[in-house]
Amino acid sequence: MEINSGRLESELAQLATFSDAPAPAVTRIVFSETDLRARAWLKERCQAAGLQVREDAVGNTFARWSCNHAEGPAIGTGSHIDAIPNAGRYDGTVGVLGGLEAIRALRESGFTPKRPIELLVFTSEEPTRFGIGCLGSRLLSGVLNEDKAAKLYDSTAASLDELRQAAGFGGSLSSVRLPTGHYAAFVELHIEQGPLLEQEGVELGLVTGIAAPASMRIDVRGEGGHAGGVLMPNRRDALAAAAEIILSVENLALATGAIDTVATTGICDVFPGAINSIPSHVSLGLDVRDTDLSRRNALVYAIKEAADAVAFKRRLSIKTELLNADDPARCDSKILDILRQSCTEEKVTCMDIISRAYHDSLFISRIAPTAMLFIPCRGGISHRPDEFASMTDIANGVRVLACALGKLAQ
Ligand code: HGY
Ligand code: MN
Ligand code: MN
Repeated sequence: MEINSGRLESELAQLATFSDAPAPAVTRIVFSETDLRARAWLKERCQAAGLQVREDAVGNTFARWSCNHAEGPAIGTGSHIDAIPNAGRYDGTVGVLGGLEAIRALRESGFTPKRPIELLVFTSEEPTRFGIGCLGSRLLSGVLNEDKAAKLYDSTAASLDELRQAAGFGGSLSSVRLPTGHYAAFVELHIEQGPLLEQEGVELGLVTGIAAPASMRIDVRGEGGHAGGVLMPNRRDALAAAAEIILSVENLALATGAIDTVATTGICDVFPGAINSIPSHVSLGLDVRDTDLSRRNALVYAIKEAADAVAFKRRLSIKTELLNADDPARCDSKILDILRQSCTEEKVTCMDIISRAYHDSLFISRIAPTAMLFIPCRGGISHRPDEFASMTDIANGVRVLACALGKLAQ
């Protein structure tokens, strides 16, 4: 399959310029001015490729290629273009611009699909603004209902509804849900965000399963006071307690003995945050994942127990809230077979792999047969400005994706 990797490389570079951080970092928060400019640029690229573009009430963007006789459930591909603060330029964008390039390659090869082929750009895959990942695909798949979604706020207390409407996405959130059978198959191309492909010297990863994320908030409330005047035995220091909890999160994850269990305390907000004032309130944000659902749920429970024990010992109050807990996904075996055949045809080596990062495919798999295709990223680095994927690896992924989309759309 012939792809135009020069065009793709320049589009990846152009998309990276829509950022609120100095290069090589990329920050592109959903519904920010920068995000809206990036979306406008991308829509223009899709229209220039001859695709029909539409956006739904939360900003998921669909770019469809339907020849006059192509009908029925579509073949979908896509990913996200929002980026966490100080991220890299390949997370998500490889699947969006690579998906666009795969569709252009099929069109330019003279292929005529019997099914529509659709590029889907998911809104708000990252949890940065609303505290929950995959917001757009949760609504598309019905995993998140519109009432709960309407209660989401960002750190400035602006609601999802206010922000999406200010960004130009009107209509009711209930209209976002895709009808069953909208997609006959969905394939997402993404960087691995891990080191295995590079370590094994394999060119592509065929994702067989996507780990299940859960996120928790733990509120620790003690008693503040003067850093000089309050003697140690009389303190109820919220940050010292939080430190014990953070270490127990790490130890409990290690204690499962399973390599697929991971737990991270990514947020630690300290109040009042003054050097000479004893912290009275700390809010922790935890991310807990595993490919095994019961092991992940057992870890969430153990973390809650450990936090309660610290609170009791230190005479503080603690509130643990489970923000979301999703099931892991198994990818579709028939699509994986088609991806294997496509790798053989395109002479690209591949191996089965688990995704420890979550992706919108985790939720699309609830409403359509779904699989993912990983390309290596240098050192497995991601969510950092030095995230890097070579054009050779990207081109391999796009060629195999184009070949597979063509087979699926026959
Ligand atoms: O956090 C994740 O797994 C994804 O990159 N948002
Ligand atoms: Mn990410
Ligand atoms: Mn991603």
